[in-house]
Amino acid sequence: MSKRINFGKLIEKQLPPELVNFMWVAGEMANSRGEKLYLVGGVVRDLLMEQANFDLDLVVEGNAIELAQQLTGINKGKITTHPRFNTAKLQWHDWSIDLATARSETYAKPGALPAVTPSSIDDDLSRRDFTINTMAIRLNPGYYGKLVDPHGGREDLQSKRIRILHEKSFTDDATRIWRALRYEQRLSFHLERRTQTLLQRDIPMLETISADRTRYEMECICKEKYPEKVFNRAGELGVLAALHPSLKGDGFLKEKFEHARQECSPEPPSFDLYLALLAYPLTAEEIEQLISRLNLPRLSAKTLRDTIAVKNKMRSLSTPGVSPGAIYNLLRDFSPTALEANSLVTQSAVAGQAIHLFLNRLKDVQVSLTGDDLIQMGIAPGPQIKEILGLLHQAKLNGKINTRHDEEEIIKGWLAQQQGGTTPPA
Ligand code: CTP
Repeated sequence: MSKRINFGKLIEKQLPPELVNFMWVAGEMANSRGEKLYLVGGVVRDLLMEQANFDLDLVVEGNAIELAQQLTGINKGKITTHPRFNTAKLQWHDWSIDLATARSETYAKPGALPAVTPSSIDDDLSRRDFTINTMAIRLNPGYYGKLVDPHGGREDLQSKRIRILHEKSFTDDATRIWRALRYEQRLSFHLERRTQTLLQRDIPMLETISADRTRYEMECICKEKYPEKVFNRAGELGVLAALHPSLKGDGFLKEKFEHARQECSPEPPSFDLYLALLAYPLTAEEIEQLISRLNLPRLSAKTLRDTIAVKNKMRSLSTPGVSPGAIYNLLRDFSPTALEANSLVTQSAVAGQAIHLFLNRLKDVQVSLTGDDLIQMGIAPGPQIKEILGLLHQAKLNGKINTRHDEEEIIKGWLAQQQGGTTPPA
């Protein structure tokens, strides 16, 4: 049996005093408006697990926008409202709080965004994904700290179970397939048996999810501490193949993601870097399929394409003694993230060093003289200006010259030779 917990005390213990105070005030205000107010969802789950989560989601049986407007008057914070869904976001100092009107949802067709109707807290909790996310804590004075748990969320939390509420949950919203794996791996829980059966049955429903929503799920996974665990599990259950049949969530990914975290520390690796590593084994054609499957923005798409292009240059980069100028020419057009991905994957120490040399130094090498400077020094305008600047750049990359003075000396030397009848060396 669950032991009795004083949820008011739990809130005070785990949340910053500013937020605790805000919830008191909000509860009192809702009361004076004759409305019931609740803290819901992920934050309640995390309170019970004693894990930090300051993303407050409040649900009111009443009018969320009006309540939020009244609360902004007190906090002098910023408010953003979405009248279509009757929700509001409050922001002040570093805090951001979502306030929603309790609602029920109906799905016109699988994967569509739901139609919403104002409703009770019970309906609001019943529309949610997993039992562990269907708990609420009442905030009104007199009831402050009372847990509402109609679906056995607390018991599932104790048994470390991810369980959906009804058979059509994944059909209604197949993004929950990805969410289930994300919670399971983040919390080290397990999928309840029937939930797992239905999840696997409904894998084809992932086709009903738009590319943008699928990409959002991938971004959420890549914000997890260990995204490779989610991809590995997705591979085991056949979910990853629905994203692209050639993707693998195996040991390669674990090793490379860990390596990426070490290299990027203290920052976490970017979404693009994780995605480039995930997509590394794909062919150019498969990369294009993945790009459209996720409707990737231009720069992310370029990173994936570049990753493959750089992969095809690894043999040239692995040649010992390849000059800095040649390294620059091989890598100049590619996104730094694609280069990082390749340096994480390559087995060749020479190629890895070449990429680091490019990223840490060569990419920033610039010639000090401009075309105008060259003309002023006596070089005739025309295509040779660009050619000479290119030669200076190569000389600088290869360490033959370093300063502006060196560049001027070279030009002067060439001009002297020209006057003597010779042209600059090609
Ligand atoms: N939710 C849902 N179905 C979805 C997305 C969200 O039922 N497809 C519900 C869940 O009850 C969830 C709440 O909406 O708790 C808020 O969503 P989100 O912020 O994504 O969930 P959190 O649990 O706060 O997630 P996280 O811990 O990853 O921030």
